[in-house]
Amino acid sequence: MTADAGLVRDILDRIENGLAACGGDGVAEVRERLAAQDFSDAAFRMPAPAAKPVVRVLDKTLKALKAMDAGMADALSAAAPALHWAQSASYSDDILGEGFSQNYAWAQLVGGDGFFAGDDFQLGLLLLGPDRHYLDHYHPAPELYWPLTPGSLWRKGGSDFVERQQGEVIWHPSMVTHATITRKQPLLAVYVWTRQTETSARLCALDETAKA
Ligand SMILES: [Fe+2]
Repeated sequence: MTADAGLVRDILDRIENGLAACGGDGVAEVRERLAAQDFSDAAFRMPAPAAKPVVRVLDKTLKALKAMDAGMADALSAAAPALHWAQSASYSDDILGEGFSQNYAWAQLVGGDGFFAGDDFQLGLLLLGPDRHYLDHYHPAPELYWPLTPGSLWRKGGSDFVERQQGEVIWHPSMVTHATITRKQPLLAVYVWTRQTETSARLCALDETAKA
C-alpha cells in the first residue's frame, strides 16, 4: 500500500480523536490549529523518502502501538516507506552521547518534508532508540508530545524525570526546557509544533558551551 491523502488524513484523524479522548493541556490548541490546516487532496504531496539508522526500531514500536490503537499502527506502517526521516543539524554525538545519531530521528507528516505543507504548523513522529537521553532543549514553538509506546521518562523546566504512559499527553509551553529518557523500550511519539515553527530546537548544552 502506498501513502495517499486518505491514508494520511486517517492517521491525522486518529491522532486528533486520540488526543481528544485523552485530554490535557495543549489538546485544544492542537485541535484548533489542525482545523486551520489544508488537508485537501490538492494540498497533498509525496515526501522524498529518507531513512535514518533508528528506523530499525520502528517495527518494534509499532507492535507496542497495536495495544493502544491497532488501526493507527497499521496506517503508520503503510505510510512508513514514504517518510522523510531527518535529524536536527545542531545535534551531535559529542553533545548527546556516543551513538545518539544512530538512535534518533523525526519525520514530519505535516510541515517541512511532510505530506502537507502546513501553515506555521508541524506534526510528525519522533523515534528514539533504547537507553538514550535526549538532553534538555527548548524552542519558541509550543509543543505537544503524545507517546505511542510505554515507559519513557520526561521532564520539563528542570524538574525530576517522570515516567509517562503510552497515550499520555505531554505539553511544553514556548521556550520551556524539556528532556526525554528511554530505557529498554524505544520511543515512538507524535509531536506537534502548533505555531512559531520557523526556529529550530536548541540544546541547553550548547548554551553552556557558548558561555564557557
Ligand atoms: Fe521539543
